[in-house]
Order: sequence, then structure tokens, then C-alpha cells
Amino acid sequence: MRAPAFLYLYGLRRPSLNEKVVVPGTVVIDGQRLVDVKEGIRRKDPACDSELKHLVAQADYWLTQGPWSVTTKAEAPPNGTLHDYASQAPYWWPSNTTNGCPYIDIDGVVNPEVNKYPDHLNRGLMFNSSYILSLAWYYTGHDQYAKHAGDILRTWFLNPSTKMNPNLEHAQIIPCKNSGRSIGIIDFSQEYTDVIDAAAILNTGAPGWTSDDVKGFKTWNSQFLTWLSQSDFGIEEANATNNHGTWANMQIAALALFTGNHSLALSTTKLATTFINGQILKNGTQPQEVARTRSFHYSNFNLAALLRWALIAEKLGINLYKYKGPQGQTLFAAVDAIIPAAVNGQKDWPFEELEFLRYAATDNIHAAANAGYAPAQKVVRKLQPPPGGDIFRLRPAPEQLDNIDVTS
Ligand SMILES: *[C@@H]1O[C@H](CO)[C@@H](O)[C@H](O)[C@H]1NC(C)=O
Ligand SMILES: *[C@@H]1O[C@H](CO)[C@@H](O)[C@H](O)[C@H]1NC(C)=O
Ligand SMILES: *[C@@H]1O[C@H](CO)[C@@H](O)[C@H](O)[C@H]1NC(C)=O
Ligand SMILES: *[C@@H]1O[C@H](CO)[C@@H](O)[C@H](O)[C@H]1NC(C)=O
Ligand SMILES: *[C@@H]1O[C@H](CO)[C@@H](O)[C@H](O)[C@H]1NC(C)=O
Ligand SMILES: *[C@@H]1O[C@H](CO)[C@@H](O)[C@H](O)[C@H]1NC(C)=O
Repeated sequence: MRAPAFLYLYGLRRPSLNEKVVVPGTVVIDGQRLVDVKEGIRRKDPACDSELKHLVAQADYWLTQGPWSVTTKAEAPPNGTLHDYASQAPYWWPSNTTNGCPYIDIDGVVNPEVNKYPDHLNRGLMFNSSYILSLAWYYTGHDQYAKHAGDILRTWFLNPSTKMNPNLEHAQIIPCKNSGRSIGIIDFSQEYTDVIDAAAILNTGAPGWTSDDVKGFKTWNSQFLTWLSQSDFGIEEANATNNHGTWANMQIAALALFTGNHSLALSTTKLATTFINGQILKNGTQPQEVARTRSFHYSNFNLAALLRWALIAEKLGINLYKYKGPQGQTLFAAVDAIIPAAVNGQKDWPFEELEFLRYAATDNIHAAANAGYAPAQKVVRKLQPPPGGDIFRLRPAPEQLDNIDVTS
């Protein structure tokens, strides 16, 4: 017999077992699912077991990597310090042998000069490693995973000598032109909420993750949230009507929930219906995303943000899956639009896609299936796992699984 779910929320002991069952306060993932999967692993449920093998293999790799810090770069960004996250717009090239200026856009051709700021690469390593290690600790109970995850988060966010300042004033810099751009917020928004869930998992009592770490990380995120919701760049990015706006608002909602700003979480999440109305047609096509040369990638990318937002919304008592726009637009229609190609490949994708990867859709279909959508449930067995194996059951929130960096 298990105690009713509400008891877990308060961290009370299960009456029947002398063991504390704390539901992780994850803001995207449904924490109760983590508890249930952990129980599945204890019972040696074969489906959980095979995913755990993939997770542990990934976690063992991450044990040998990092930690990373923004302070290791060779130079500070213009008008910034070493503690400021910095990245340079990858497709912009110097056009003038005298001083480089002006820089001009050569779309799709990466200027190797961008490597002078390793923060962009390192932040991706930090996001992925902290998430995978925290999950591996949660399921296996092996201390080394939690200790390394904690070390990675302390180094990036908390230690005074290595911490990042809580803003993105210097992301996607175009030399000679600016010292950062609002669209650079996507350097974080596309994956940073994984780190929030990672910390929420560590907050359940991970070894090495102290109460000072818990408090410090929450404070850092309160400050970052203030910057995201009130700075010029933050406001401009959240105002975007394409995938940048979806990711930005989803991230604000997640941080608001994590830091306890319920009214901001709620007011931001109420905007999600505007995004569904504006981004999805009745037949599920996302016109802004299918207009691009990587249309399957971008359709999945934007849908992943919407489906993550729907998971956050559930925690605020809002059901976005049931929402229907004035022309009949729904989240599940957008899922319907990608199912044929997710199952059968590019021949069932009617738009231009320069580098079709079937697994780009895998997590979104899983997420719709978890939300109870029968057409998605019917095809989950036919999905293509991403490299490194399908671990959706162990971290049931959709990720963008095909790796391209979104910068413009
Ligand atoms: C190159 O830079 C020099 C020095 O700033 C400037 O005088 C010149 O106009 C620039 N050339 C172009 C094509 O922008
Ligand atoms: C740095 O700040 C100064 C003063 O605000 C400004 O004039 C200058 O344009 C800034 N430099 C860059 C690269 O944005
Ligand atoms: C928000 O976007 C609209 C156009 O979609 C634009 O007119 C307005 O200036 C933007 N506001 C901000 C603060 O960026
Ligand atoms: C919540 O966020 C709003 C908007 O940024 C802010 O005005 C308010 O002070 C925040 N509330 C708390 C309790 O932090
Ligand atoms: C959905 O409808 C739009 C507008 O009518 C159309 O352009 C698009 O091709 C349709 N999508 C599919 C997959 O047929
Ligand atoms: C992080 O994981 C995502 C998939 O979840 C992958 O696309 C991306 O390449 C990874 N990034 C790094 C730097 O490992």
C-alpha cells in the first residue's frame, strides 16, 4: 500500500516502509513519475532496466569530464568581465583587413574565431552532465554521481572565484556591432531547465549537496529570473513570436516555479495559449518553422518547448493539452503533424529538410503519449532512439535530441 500522493509532497514517511519517499520538486518533469520509475527499477522491471543501462553508461562518461567555469576563457567580453557568460555569433566574419569591422553574415559558415569564447560549448557540457549525473544518482544511489553533479553546479554557479554572473548580456556578440544580443538567451533557454530539474533532484538529499548549495542555487536563479523577466534583452526575447519566444517564456515559467514566484509562473504560463494560437495551424503544421530549410528539426524544436511548458503548466493547474485555439489549433495537432515522419522517415515529411533525422521527433511523441494521447501511444514502439539510447522513461520531459545550435 502506498501513501496518497499528497503525503509525498511534504516529504512524510511512507507509513508501511521505514523509508522516506520524497517526491523531487522538479519543475518540468512530473516528480511522481521519477518516484514510480525508481520503484520500477527496484522491482527489476525490464523496460526500466534497459534504459538504466544507457543512463549509467552516459553518467560514467560524465564522471570523467568537467567541472567547467566561464572564468576559464582567455579574455572577457567587450564591456564585461570573465564572470560574464560570453558567446560570439558563429556566422559573422570580419570584412576589413584593417580592423575587421564591419562583421558580415555568411549564413551557415562558422567563423573559427568564435572559439575564443569556450563558454557556449562548456555550458552544453555542464547542462547535460549535471542532468545525467543527478538522474544516475537518483536511480542508483551511488554517491559519486551526486558528488560530481554538485561539483559541476557549484563550479559554474556558486564558487565566488569561478561563478557565472546571473545574466546573458554577452551572448551571441557581433564584434564591432554590439556586446551581446537578446537572441543569445537561447544559449540557455533551449536546455537550461534540465539543470533546474537536476538541482531539484539533488535537493532531495544528495550527498555533498549542502543546504548552502540548495540556498545558493535558488538565490542565483532568483537573480537570473529577475534579469530574464525585467532586462531589455529578456523582455525582447520573451516577446519573440517564434521558437525563441516559446523557449524564453517556458524558461521564465520554470524558474519562477523553482524559485517560488508563483504569480510570475502563472502569468507567464497563461501566455502559452497565445503561442499555440499563433504558431500552430489546425492541421498541426507550424508555419514559421516549416518555412526553414531545417523544417523538421525546427518543428520539433518549437514543439519540445511547448510540451515542456505543458508539463510546467500541469503543476500550476493549467491543462494545455486540452486547450483549443479559435481555429482549432492544439498541441496534439502539432504532434499529429510529425508522427508520420517520426515513424516512416523523410518520405512522410512534406517540407524542406536538409538533414533529416528521424529521432528528432522521438521525445515529443513520447511526451504526447505520456500525456495520454492515443495516436502517440500507438507508435512509441516504432520510434528511433537517439544516439546513446532512449532514456525518456527515466527523465520524462522532451529534449531536442538532434544537435544543432540555434543562434539566429
Ligand atoms: C576598414 O576600416 C578602416 C579603418 O577603420 C576604415 O577607414 C574603412 O572604411 C573600412 N573599410 C570598410 C570597407 O568598411
Ligand atoms: C561599451 O560601453 C561603452 C559605454 O557604455 C559604449 O560606448 C561602447 O559602445 C560599448 N562597447 C560595445 C562593444 O558594446
Ligand atoms: C514586441 O514585438 C512587437 C512585434 O511583434 C514589436 O512591435 C515590439 O516593439 C516588441 N516589443 C519589445 C519590447 O521588444
Ligand atoms: C515575481 O516576479 C515579478 C516579475 O518579475 C516581480 O515583480 C515580483 O517581485 C516577483 N515576486 C517575488 C516574490 O519574487
Ligand atoms: C496545413 O495547412 C496549411 C495551410 O492551409 C498548408 O500550407 C500546409 O501545407 C498544411 N500542412 C500539411 C501537412 O498538409
Ligand atoms: C546534450 O544533449 C543533447 C541531447 O539531449 C545533445 O543533442 C547535445 O549534443 C548534447 N550536448 C553536449 C555538449 O553534449
